Amino acid sequence: MGDALLFVRQFLRSPTTIGAVAPSSAYLARRIAADVPESGDPVVLELGPGSGAFTGEIRRRLGGRGRHVAIEVNPSMAAALRSRHAGVEVIEGDAAETAGLLRTVGVDRVDLVVSGLPWAVFPGPKQDAILDSVVAAMPPDGRFATFAYSHATVLPPAVRFRRRLEERFETVGSGTTEWRNLPPARIVHASRPRAGTTSDPAA
Ligand SMILES: C[S@@+](CC[C@H](N)C(=O)[O-])C[C@H]1O[C@@H](n2cnc3c(N)ncnc32)[C@H](O)[C@@H]1O
Repeated sequence: MGDALLFVRQFLRSPTTIGAVAPSSAYLARRIAADVPESGDPVVLELGPGSGAFTGEIRRRLGGRGRHVAIEVNPSMAAALRSRHAGVEVIEGDAAETAGLLRTVGVDRVDLVVSGLPWAVFPGPKQDAILDSVVAAMPPDGRFATFAYSHATVLPPAVRFRRRLEERFETVGSGTTEWRNLPPARIVHASRPRAGTTSDPAA
């Protein structure tokens, strides 16, 4: 089954988990994966890889170095990804359990997190749980890249998500738009995770 067909089918089954009707473009993939370190053996964690729109680009940049771990909650997406990308360690599970899931594959720190998660459809406590679990696995120089659909960045869920990012990272970029994506997407890079961050339930 082609990527687009797999994606649409899973969207129709579970729209609030998939959060988009089509996979991201190669243009967005190139920009969101730009932080993959060019040397060394980095550990890259991909969240919500879906049908693999970012996966191939991350693999290309790694060129066989380090480790590439992906956490995907949808069983069909996880199975398809596993069969297409043998070099990627695909874990079927919830990103809110990141720290524990990483331990099952012997990973205790991730240098870069590339997120394809649909943050805007998650309630606040879910955003908190995922971010807290991810940040717990990041070293002080860890980096985080994510995107949101541009038309939604002014809506309350996206504004709240940005505040949550700022609570957990010392540096959060203002974001740049990739227009060659359907719909256009705003890419945000964050770095310098704050140690021991706790979520504010009132936010
Ligand atoms: C908007 S799609 C993005 C897929 C791909 N990264 C792209 O950009 O084309 C969101 C993906 O996140 C996955 N997802 C949603 N909630 C998740 C969770 N809690 N943990 C892991 N994956 C999740 C969905 O199953 C879906 O594959």
